[in-house]
Amino acid sequence: MSDVVLKAGVMGWPVEHSLSPRLHGYWLERAHIKGSYLPLAVVPNDLSNALKSLKENGYRGVNLTVPHKEAAMAIVDDIDDIARRVGAINTVVVCEDGSLEGRNTDAYGFSQNLLSAQFQHQDRPAVILGAGGAARAAIVALMDLGVPEIRILNRTEDKAQNLAREFGSRLSAYALSNVDALKDASLLVNATSLGLKGQPPLEIFLGTLPVGALVTDMVYAPLMTDLLKRAAARGNKVVDGLGMLLHQARPAFKAFYGVDPEVTPSLRSYVLEGT
Ligand code: ATR
Repeated sequence: MSDVVLKAGVMGWPVEHSLSPRLHGYWLERAHIKGSYLPLAVVPNDLSNALKSLKENGYRGVNLTVPHKEAAMAIVDDIDDIARRVGAINTVVVCEDGSLEGRNTDAYGFSQNLLSAQFQHQDRPAVILGAGGAARAAIVALMDLGVPEIRILNRTEDKAQNLAREFGSRLSAYALSNVDALKDASLLVNATSLGLKGQPPLEIFLGTLPVGALVTDMVYAPLMTDLLKRAAARGNKVVDGLGMLLHQARPAFKAFYGVDPEVTPSLRSYVLEGT
């Protein structure tokens, strides 16, 4: 067996809160891979240098978290189609020739999390609350799942309108208060930061949402957000956001270490203990 330690990590600023080292560490141990996955604190001004030194420092690649996902677009050599559409990179792979490839696995993680809860769009609209980076990943995922209509509700309606212009006729834009837009929906997604620990709760009225709609929150701290609690109490099926984090890590792990890992209940419990 080779003595080479396969190195990867996550770059962020700050990075201590990241659950990725715990998540990848679990898989490394389970698969008996001689590898490491480190938290890498990188200030925004150092991102370019840090990425360009990956190869000489023996890294197979890195994940990127806040605030680097968009800035990396201008640094890497190639960007895959999904990352280009999302407008953000969460995985950088060091290629054989030393070039850097930017990928985005957030949209994949979002879809897999929904599919693991048997989500079917039933040819009905999906509603996304929010118009930032998280919403963009959800839009790409839902378009690729064939959702026929995507309604974007945002506090700043202009930003929702910009997304509708960019992504085309399947999208429409509304104010966050326009709860009529929840009618007929098969899915409601919170892609705002509301409900996150330390932020106000999301106070949207759910009375117009069909009880058969699935409700998911991209916020996973706390796991059961106020939105998910209220949705579950009125009979909607709910999917928390932790699954998205677990599933987005899978293709990155495969790229770094060459093994396709599994998302299991015990992985979920282990990662949860780190929150
Ligand atoms: P992310 O990358 O996590 O999506 P972001 O790009 O900063 O973060 O987007 C945050 C989203 O949460 C936006 O849709 C934002 O609404 P605005 O576009 O109007 O800013 C939404 N958001 C944040 N705080 C909010 C609040 N107090 N009320 C309503 N929406 C809020």
